[in-house]
Amino acid sequence: MHILAINASPRKKGNTSTLIQAMLEGAASSGAETTEAYLHSLDMKGCMGCLSCRQTIGICAQKDELSPFLETVKTCDALIFGCPIYMYRVSGQMKLYVDRSYSLYTPAEGGGYNSAVPAGKRFALVVSQGATDPDQYHRSIRWLSGMAGTGHGMQEVGRIIHTSSNARPAAQNDALLEEARTIGRRLSGE
Ligand SMILES: Cc1cc2nc3c(=O)[nH]c(=O)nc-3n(C[C@H](O)[C@H](O)[C@H](O)COP(=O)(O)O)c2cc1C
Repeated sequence: MHILAINASPRKKGNTSTLIQAMLEGAASSGAETTEAYLHSLDMKGCMGCLSCRQTIGICAQKDELSPFLETVKTCDALIFGCPIYMYRVSGQMKLYVDRSYSLYTPAEGGGYNSAVPAGKRFALVVSQGATDPDQYHRSIRWLSGMAGTGHGMQEVGRIIHTSSNARPAAQNDALLEEARTIGRRLSGE
């Protein structure tokens, strides 16, 4: 069991990173092997719009430090997608990832898309925002869940939306950390 976390927060000790870490700890406690792609530290570019992935199915022609992680998305068993809300939307780092993951969508006969990612993987979301209403950015979160997860035939098994109404940083919120560990164990099949 291999779990890949795509971390799109630039803050290594921020709320998103803390909650992803707790999910990975929960997964590891169930015996999973874990990998974290910390996007902000990768030398990665956005999609260059070459559309070569429409010919060379499932392969992104942009070769950089994201490339091995796009391959791991295909081979791992479960994923975590985590990002803060910036300017009402997902962080720029997450948008770069989702654009590059266009290469994982494959053209379907008669139109529409299939996926180069084998169906049936589990995934979970971590979102952190300043606003107190956890539903405030539901459209952005639904977009992330769909584009990164369900669009590739994955099943969402949990999400944490950390808000400023949690009053404390995630690192000091024991209940939220425990919820994250529980989702991590669920990701690994418990
Ligand atoms: C550039 C920037 C834009 C932000 N925009 C929003 C926003 O539109 N809505 C919101 O609720 N919080 C916004 N925030 C607050 C962050 O989402 C919040 O502080 C979050 O907890 C940061 O996550 P992190 O600790 O993982 O870095 C913004 C923060 C920054 C730095």
